[in-house]
Amino acid sequence: MKEPHKDSAYTVSQTVRPSGYVSQLEEVWYGISGPFYDIMTWWCFLPLGGENACRKKFIDWFAVEPGHHVLSLCCGTGSTERALIRSIPSAKVTAIDLGSGQITTAKWKDRTGLVDYQVGDVCDTGFEPKSFDRVLITLALHEMPRQLRMSILREAARVCRPSGRVIAIEHAPLSNWLQGFVRLLWWFGWVPGNPESSTTKDLQQRGLANEMKQAGLRVIKRNTTRPEWIEGIIAKPDRICIESDTR
Ligand SMILES: C[S@@+](CC[C@H](N)C(=O)[O-])C[C@H]1O[C@@H](n2cnc3c(N)ncnc32)[C@H](O)[C@@H]1O
Repeated sequence: MKEPHKDSAYTVSQTVRPSGYVSQLEEVWYGISGPFYDIMTWWCFLPLGGENACRKKFIDWFAVEPGHHVLSLCCGTGSTERALIRSIPSAKVTAIDLGSGQITTAKWKDRTGLVDYQVGDVCDTGFEPKSFDRVLITLALHEMPRQLRMSILREAARVCRPSGRVIAIEHAPLSNWLQGFVRLLWWFGWVPGNPESSTTKDLQQRGLANEMKQAGLRVIKRNTTRPEWIEGIIAKPDRICIESDTR
């Protein structure tokens, strides 16, 4: 069994599982939700100019070069990876998600067969340290409690090459209340008992860039969509921090 984090900053409720799914409900949902999930994301991206346009923008932010080895954590139904491999077919892309339903949909959508999709827990990928040029985490961290979020960010930092980049894409904090209200309505934040509401709020209060720094990354750039509903933080491994980690 994995040792708990020694850093007291990560001491979150003991009831939270350190890896895997947080609740049985989530486990069932991501086991079966593939096609429904894609309808939901289609809807969510509409105010941002549509899903295809947004995913293309994310690919620009990733700055993947031909021949790069890319690891995508929590890939879901593979929409980003599909767009990525179409735009840079010589990249070597490995994509992991815990949801078997998500991976089945991802494989079905990827007609190129060039993406290596795997079912697995991204807190502990088992890959060699420093083995990927790009490590991507797209729109997943907001739905996780902090302990899980930090485990994933640390794993991203561990497997990223010193010259590589970790890119996390998330709901951006919004200072304009009207924008915040419209986004809340559009993205189902009003649904009673929405399990994402508290984790999203926690991530925004702490700040994605701060969380990445605490996980052993050095932030180098921030991008946003128009309107600024989504942010992409680009970071590189901060070896001084990682090497002093006692985990
Ligand atoms: C909101 S979806 C994001 C999907 C995708 N990246 C996208 O851009 O549409 C979050 C994904 O995280 C996955 N997930 C949650 N915890 C995980 C874990 N510990 N290991 C691997 N995947 C996990 C879920 O199965 C789900 O597919």
